[in-house]
Amino acid sequence: MPDIAFVNGRFMPLSEATVNVEDRGYQFGDGVYEVIRSYNSILFGLEDHLVRLERSANQIQLDMGYSKDEWKKIILEAFKKSGYNEAKVYIQITRGVAPRAHPFPSGVNPTCVITVRELDRLSEEVRREGVKAITTPDIRWGRCDIKSLNLLPNVLARQKAKEAGAFEAVFVRDNMTTEGSGSNIFIVKNGSVITPSQGPYILSGITREVVIEAAKEAGIIVEERGFPVNDLFLSDEVFITGSTIEVVPVVEIDNRLIGDGIPGKITGIIIDQFRSLTRSDKS
Ligand code: PDD
Repeated sequence: MPDIAFVNGRFMPLSEATVNVEDRGYQFGDGVYEVIRSYNSILFGLEDHLVRLERSANQIQLDMGYSKDEWKKIILEAFKKSGYNEAKVYIQITRGVAPRAHPFPSGVNPTCVITVRELDRLSEEVRREGVKAITTPDIRWGRCDIKSLNLLPNVLARQKAKEAGAFEAVFVRDNMTTEGSGSNIFIVKNGSVITPSQGPYILSGITREVVIEAAKEAGIIVEERGFPVNDLFLSDEVFITGSTIEVVPVVEIDNRLIGDGIPGKITGIIIDQFRSLTRSDKS
């Protein structure tokens, strides 16, 4: 069975998986999700993703349906059934199926979904050459730390990037850089790495944490603090991080070159560090 789905206790081919039209995820975006990828048959950062999933669920008073440990077992089973070495695992929990009404329904079970498909890996050429980005106003809500299903501002931002021939859109709130539409952002200035601190306006990425640790281990100074959008353009290097894209150099933003317009040295060190971590046995 290659592309797998798990829906409320049952495994099936992904093509056969369906949810009810009255699901609150479908009607309200009332739910949370995670995206995990694997390297050499190991799901990277599985425990960290589950901790974040549990936190997201708690923050919106959502019953997870299963305990964190039960989720882990089910995810591992789904992953194993797929047989993929390099997979993209999507987990989604919604507040379940009920006639459309805004308040939480009572006596309704959450809808628990997993999909497993083969990872569509970013080409190494893209990583070698770096990507373009645009900036866009951060019109999202005030709880971006929750990995909620409400991704319309992210969708619109990414579409805008696509139409501009760019890979990512970088959100700007009150003149401060927050994150990408599906990634965290880092700048390099005078040898130090700077990334916006955790808080309500960014999703605290699992990759972000790994990269911060990897940078520190490489002896690079890391500052977690906000920075104005103008610092993006004045920085020596910029890179973005995310579970499926890993670490990607950004060489141009809003048609302005970053540094020399080629991926920088510190970014290269971090890409190498990250690669050695993900290709080891760490899970
Ligand atoms: N997105 N910020 C946002 C807004 C994101 O959507 C993501 C990831 C990240 C990076 O988080 P992590 O390193 O834990 O993947 C930051 C996923 C991959 C997605 O929505 O597809």
